[in-house]
Amino acid sequence: MVQTGEISPEYTIFNQRTAGYEAAHLLPHLEPGMRVVDCGCGAGSITLDLATAASPGEVVAFDISPNAIEQATNLAKERGITNVTWQVGDVYAPGIAEASFDAAHFCGVLCHLPDPGRALDVAYRLLKPGGVIALRDPYKGGDWMSGPFSEAIDELNRLIAAASAADGADPMVGIRYPRLLREAGFSDLELFPSYSRVFSQVANLAMAGRRSEDATFLNRIVSLGLATEEHVRGLAEPIRRWGESTDSLCGFAEITAIAWKREKAGSDDARANDWRRHDR
Ligand SMILES: C[S@@+](CC[C@H](N)C(=O)[O-])C[C@H]1O[C@@H](n2cnc3c(N)ncnc32)[C@H](O)[C@@H]1O
Repeated sequence: MVQTGEISPEYTIFNQRTAGYEAAHLLPHLEPGMRVVDCGCGAGSITLDLATAASPGEVVAFDISPNAIEQATNLAKERGITNVTWQVGDVYAPGIAEASFDAAHFCGVLCHLPDPGRALDVAYRLLKPGGVIALRDPYKGGDWMSGPFSEAIDELNRLIAAASAADGADPMVGIRYPRLLREAGFSDLELFPSYSRVFSQVANLAMAGRRSEDATFLNRIVSLGLATEEHVRGLAEPIRRWGESTDSLCGFAEITAIAWKREKAGSDDARANDWRRHDR
């Protein structure tokens, strides 16, 4: 539920995330000494766990938001973790040496991008032959909420996804993982459906639901013609009550994937000739 470029205080919920859960598909493939790139690292909690797993290797972590990088840098200092290089950067052009990483990690990033395929092309180039890529994104087709006033949080979730789609992003990007990964040149895909541990907690989702009172979000929803300001503001109180009810439950769906850059297919020519790129 974070918008590109900003991480406001309530969204530090994101830092309850750990690699042990959110990158469980990647951790078994990390070894001490590996070089890892975390693309769209946000405020850094998962990154720091990856850094611990890859230590004494280096993690290069970048995000388009200077605010996120500042928060991540502070968290690294707090935790005394020093093997991460933090930088502001764009997934489409991160300005990092190509073919220099054993693993690339994206969590909650591709769903914000108008062109996730281009970001995966870049990640492919950042990896050494034999490198592994790990993806995780929400899947807006699979969320559910129950309990009193759950219609309100459901409606806000729908509006957030609709606004994201209007920005050219794909809130369902996870179901495109197989094709996107194949087209970027990756192989040996493994896909896993999952739920967010953090956002499947009612208190956290209700806190994130404070978005209904955020002026920027309100203006965006109204200007897109998705709902009136009165309608969105009217969601705040029922969401608060939903968050307080011990009868409430929610499941926040996500999709994860892991895939490899094959040893031999390192060149662009090899990728262009790969049969997988012709199944559009
Ligand atoms: C939902 S947050 C996820 C952060 C982190 N990966 C995590 O899971 O905790 C999405 C992040 O992607 C970043 N982002 C969005 N577009 C980006 C881009 N073009 N290049 C780099 N980062 C981007 C945002 O700034 C935000 O920090």
